[in-house]
Amino acid sequence: NACIPSATYRPAYHYTPEKNWVNDPNGLVYLDGEYHLFYQYNPAGDKWGHMSWGHAVSKNLKTWEELPLAIPETMNADGSTNMVFSGAAVVDSLNTSGFFEKGFTKGMVAIYTSHLNKNGEGMAQSQSLAYSSDKGRTWKFYDKNPVLAIGLKDFRDPNVFMQEGKWKMIVAKPLEFMVQIYESTNLKEWTLLSEFGKMGDVAKIWECPSLFKVPVENSDNSKWVMLISSAAEATEFTGMQYFVGEFDGKSFVPDKQEGVLRLDRGKDFYAAIPFQNLPAKDKNPIIIGWGSNWSYAGDIPSEGRRGMFSMPRKLSLVKENGQFRLVQKPIYSNRIHSKELILKASELTKPKTWEMKNNSYKLGLVIDLGNSNGFAMELLKNEEEKCVLTYNAMTQKLFFDRTKSGKIDFNKNFSSIESMQVVPQNGVLKLDIFVDNSIVEVFANEGKVVLTDLVFPQKNGGKIILSLLKD
Ligand code: FRU
Repeated sequence: NACIPSATYRPAYHYTPEKNWVNDPNGLVYLDGEYHLFYQYNPAGDKWGHMSWGHAVSKNLKTWEELPLAIPETMNADGSTNMVFSGAAVVDSLNTSGFFEKGFTKGMVAIYTSHLNKNGEGMAQSQSLAYSSDKGRTWKFYDKNPVLAIGLKDFRDPNVFMQEGKWKMIVAKPLEFMVQIYESTNLKEWTLLSEFGKMGDVAKIWECPSLFKVPVENSDNSKWVMLISSAAEATEFTGMQYFVGEFDGKSFVPDKQEGVLRLDRGKDFYAAIPFQNLPAKDKNPIIIGWGSNWSYAGDIPSEGRRGMFSMPRKLSLVKENGQFRLVQKPIYSNRIHSKELILKASELTKPKTWEMKNNSYKLGLVIDLGNSNGFAMELLKNEEEKCVLTYNAMTQKLFFDRTKSGKIDFNKNFSSIESMQVVPQNGVLKLDIFVDNSIVEVFANEGKVVLTDLVFPQKNGGKIILSLLKD
């Protein structure tokens, strides 16, 4: 249809750099009114390679400004390179590292994985430091890198936080489905405290671990949560799991759990880590994930730019059936979206339609299910394309179907239907739907169940059609 312009894949309110490849968020840290998002970035193209840290900042976690490359890949005399893999950034306000001028409280230290790359092959991984005295704009490498090497080829993704005056690092031994926890007083010398792993989902390597405290809703308590990027429901996909438990400063002990706790039920949420050094007003941890899946990340339509980030999400815990579960709330506070609707299924005698000018919108819905069988919602609907969010009230399952969502043939694993259990609360289902050109995030029941999926519609603008399921 000539009247419908072609779509852009670049999201409007999800961050992507102007061009090139991105994967994991790195070094999420707050300092002096700025939230920093560093990330795995290839400065030389739209495929994975030359891994370096890109950089963006935000004052409100909603709009981002891209800054010049922060920490680049470096070349060795023999032609091998040190890629800058994933890691964390902290504010060393007491200058424990000694990297800064006496009394300077705003020094930033990045703790990342040096990945030695020779002729395109990974030779060794170790943990290294870089530091910045100008709020992450320019960086120097520590001249005695690496600070932590244990002779493993796969040993990566350090996440560092301060606990009672000591730095703690959690880092992955991916092929062993293990993490290690270390301690340091100066970020340079690290002592092993404990190991944790070989639990939960071990179908795929463990990467990007993090460990942090999360408040329990409606209480003064908090629990420790460990995020691991591991496998999703099927082993050919990467996804995330988490553990809830206690951390005594040395070891993490998980609560008894039934099955695997999955963070996101879609295919495109990985490598999420929390912000460090959040201001007091942010009482809850905030995470950002990479919106893609290694299964097809390199093949998604590019426009010179590949990969994007999820919206920042605030975390809390709730107890359900004796088990703590993470709740994720989008940074756009719930129920004040550009459209917010309370709908009674019993009054929905014919399909309800919204005309959309483009493919970027936010929609908050409260659906009173009544005696209905559920509903189907076509998002991004134009002649041939649609994504369908279906709720079956009998089985209490929510489905997201992207099999007709536009461009799907770039990889055989992309076309998919996600399904997840969502129990209505007092007969009501709440959905916060964020559609943003090529990324869809759905928060059901105020963040109890979350789904993130990429989609590549070819046309810009169309309809949203909501209809009841027939018998
Ligand atoms: C996770 C990951 C990390 C690694 C980085 C390399 O997506 O594989 O383990 O540090 O990507 O880009």
